[in-house]
Amino acid sequence: MVLVAGSANVDFVVRAPHIPAPGETVLGGAFQTFAGGKGANQAVACARAGGVPTHMLLALGSDAFAAPIEASLKSAGVTMHTVRPEGLATGSAFICVDDHAENAITVAPGANACLKAEDLPSLQGFNHLLMQLEIPLDAVLAYAMAAKAADLRVVLNAAPAQALPPGLLTAVDVLVVNEGELRALSGVHGSVAEHLAQLPCPTVVVTLGARGCVAREDGAYFVQTGFAVQAVDTTGAGDTFCGALVAALSQAMPLTDALRRASAAAALACTQMGAQSSVPTSRAVTDFLTQESNQTDAAAISALRHYAGLA
Ligand code: RIB
Repeated sequence: MVLVAGSANVDFVVRAPHIPAPGETVLGGAFQTFAGGKGANQAVACARAGGVPTHMLLALGSDAFAAPIEASLKSAGVTMHTVRPEGLATGSAFICVDDHAENAITVAPGANACLKAEDLPSLQGFNHLLMQLEIPLDAVLAYAMAAKAADLRVVLNAAPAQALPPGLLTAVDVLVVNEGELRALSGVHGSVAEHLAQLPCPTVVVTLGARGCVAREDGAYFVQTGFAVQAVDTTGAGDTFCGALVAALSQAMPLTDALRRASAAAALACTQMGAQSSVPTSRAVTDFLTQESNQTDAAAISALRHYAGLA
């Protein structure tokens, strides 16, 4: 059983030809809202990946924006442990998605900023705790320590990038980061492999967008190339990767298979608009992987190994 402790936001999204530069105004298309937040997106991805009961600790405001988030989590089958701080708005995110499916996001944390150490529910029955960095860092640290003491595997998606409290990484079993977050955390210059080698966690996974991902587990390195899709919106793709990865790991799937399923789920998430709305079902991932099963592209693997400094 997996517990996700993290943020829940309502996403206010507009598509535009390009993401505005500082001081620039860009005329975009129709405005849409979606259920989002890195924590809630990952909880939905874990639940939709199938095979593992998923719970989430979250904080919501007492406003109209809480309901669509609760509805999305509920329809994915996530059991909620909800904190409702007085007088605070539900978290919100303002997202511009450009014609290349890339995005720029600004988050107003609202109720997410109120999660505290004492809000953690009983850890009885859970084998994995999955967190991100859109809730207070002292809560993240307290939850990690409690989970470690209760023998859970602690998974941290260190996003958005920020300085971590001392001691947090030593409590993390599986760290998932993108390339920018990896460089910010490792504090060295060098290749992806060299950055991965610096981090103290037993397993570190770096997602590299369309290229795929690279993992270091103890001293061994693994690569998974990306799946080519017609991307319309990359929002939530990294979250889908994390949720699907943890669902697979919590069912004792080998890391290489878990990376493949998580990468396929993330690729499919890029083909639809929105965050939770774009998370694929387990069946969709299996069908996609069946179609892709004969495509072991030696050139792509070699290019990824070269990019990561493994060749
Ligand atoms: O990772 C994507 C998410 O980041 C969005 O859903 C937004 O809410 C922000 O938390």
